[in-house]
Amino acid sequence: MTDLVVRRLLVDMEAPIARHWCAGDAFRTALFNALSMSFPFGEQFFIDSVRSGFAQLPPQQQERMRAEVQGFIGQEATHRRLHGLYNAHLDKLGLHNTWEPRAKARLQRLEGQDVRHWLGITAANEHFTAIFAEFLLANGDLLGDQDQRLKTLWLWHSAEEAEHKATAFDLYQALGGSHAWRVKWMRRVTVFFLTDVLRQTVRNLRDDGTFWQWSTWKSGASVLFGKRGLLRLTYQPWRAYFRRDFHPNQQESGASQQWLADNKEQFVPVRS
Ligand SMILES: [Fe+2]
Ligand SMILES: [Fe+2]
Repeated sequence: MTDLVVRRLLVDMEAPIARHWCAGDAFRTALFNALSMSFPFGEQFFIDSVRSGFAQLPPQQQERMRAEVQGFIGQEATHRRLHGLYNAHLDKLGLHNTWEPRAKARLQRLEGQDVRHWLGITAANEHFTAIFAEFLLANGDLLGDQDQRLKTLWLWHSAEEAEHKATAFDLYQALGGSHAWRVKWMRRVTVFFLTDVLRQTVRNLRDDGTFWQWSTWKSGASVLFGKRGLLRLTYQPWRAYFRRDFHPNQQESGASQQWLADNKEQFVPVRS
């Protein structure tokens, strides 16, 4: 059981976002923007999954998980609201979100399905989010210093993702979700997630007019495959999910607690 605090982030999301807000780097900006575009609908799906899963727990287990589930929903609702404001600026920059309609059509096929499938998908996505969060907290300099507000937003979101990384997983287990389906969903989610994030990043670069620039792909190769490359550093933690005895809390989240302790002036707790 985890004590999840919902925090109101003290950032001004009214001010516009610069075209290459992330260290003037077109590739990194396009990648982070792509991820942001997936949050409002993705996190709504996670909230719906956790809420429906919680409703199916026996009363005693509900009591045990109530506070954590409320914290999870509060945190994700805050994330999706701020990323909604962020994404409105991206619309104004002429970027087109093609990920959302594609994912929405896919998720529609889950209507009426066993809630454990919803939770299996959510737990797999939350694992992705948690390992990405850990990567970002350890490599915060990749966000650059041109927009402190967005840097704070990404690191705060990362810190909270690490905090609630076990909630969907624990609900899935509590409802008797099987190992076979858990790993099956992880395989599918991996294919969808990597394809979607790549397609949206490419689309953002095309809309931005930087797709054909050499510097874009030089940065892309370094961000993905370099010494501190995203794919290189997240491969092992991703693999761990396939172990039968895997649990999200086995994975490191010290950087999350550290960031929250060091940045108390950036937020106000709204529930504890
Ligand atoms: Fe989130
Ligand atoms: Fe999350």
